[in-house]
Amino acid sequence: MVDIVVAIDGFSGTGKSSTAKKVARALGYTYIDSGAMYRCVAHYFINHQIDFDKEKEVTAALDKILISFQFNKMLNTSEILLNKKIMDYQIRRPEVDEIVSQIAAKPLIRKAMVDRQQKLGLGKKMVMDGRDIGTIVFPDAALKIFMTADLHIRSMRRHKELEQQGIQVNIEEIKRNLAKRDDLDANRSESPLIKAKDAISLDNTYLTLEDQVKKIVEIANKIIHEG
Ligand code: DC
Repeated sequence: MVDIVVAIDGFSGTGKSSTAKKVARALGYTYIDSGAMYRCVAHYFINHQIDFDKEKEVTAALDKILISFQFNKMLNTSEILLNKKIMDYQIRRPEVDEIVSQIAAKPLIRKAMVDRQQKLGLGKKMVMDGRDIGTIVFPDAALKIFMTADLHIRSMRRHKELEQQGIQVNIEEIKRNLAKRDDLDANRSESPLIKAKDAISLDNTYLTLEDQVKKIVEIANKIIHEG
C-alpha cells in the first residue's frame, strides 16, 4: 500500500471541489481546496482595499494572511480558515469571483500560495484541487485528473449553487464570468491552466457527481493497493 497525492485540475465550475471532497472522504484522505486559498486572498484584499497591482502593498498584505485548514467532524470535510476565522460563503461571493482570477495571475501571490500548498502536501494522503496542482504544485502526483464540462451546463450548476445560498445572479452573467475566468486562467503567463501530460481527462457534462467520484476512487485505489 502506498500513500499518494491526488491532483484534480480543471476549468471553473466543473465541480472539482465537490468531486475532490468526496474522493478524499472515500479514500480517508485530507482534502485541500487550493482555489479557496486564492479566494481568501481576494476576500482579504477587498476588505482591506489592497491594490493588487502594487507589489509592496501585496507583500505586506501576504505577511498578514494566515491560511489554515481544519477538519470539521460535522461536515465530514476540511474547512478553510483565514486568520483563524472559518471562511465559507464570504469567499464565494460574486465580488470575489470577479477579481480572483486576476489575483491568482500575479506571480508574487502564486509563489506564496504554491509554497504553502507544497508544505500542506508533504504528508501525502491528500486530494488537492485547483488549476496547476498536477503541473506545478505536485508534478509527481501519482494520480492526476483534468476535469472539463460544457460551459452552459457549468453555468446552470453554478446558478443553482448560488440560488441555494440566496444569491440571485442572471445565468448569462455567470456564463460571462466563467468564460472570462477560463480565459484568464488558461492564458496567463504564470502557471496557466493546462492539462498535465500524464493527467486523465474527465468530461463530466453528462456524468453525475457520484459516477465521476466512483471512477476516480477506483483508479486511486488501484494505485494505492497495486502501486
Ligand atoms: O477553484 P476556484 O474557482 O475556487 O478558484 C478560484 C480562482 O483561483 C480561479 O479563478 C483560478 C484560481 N486558481 C488558480 O489559479 N490556481 C489554483 N491552484 C486554484 C485556483
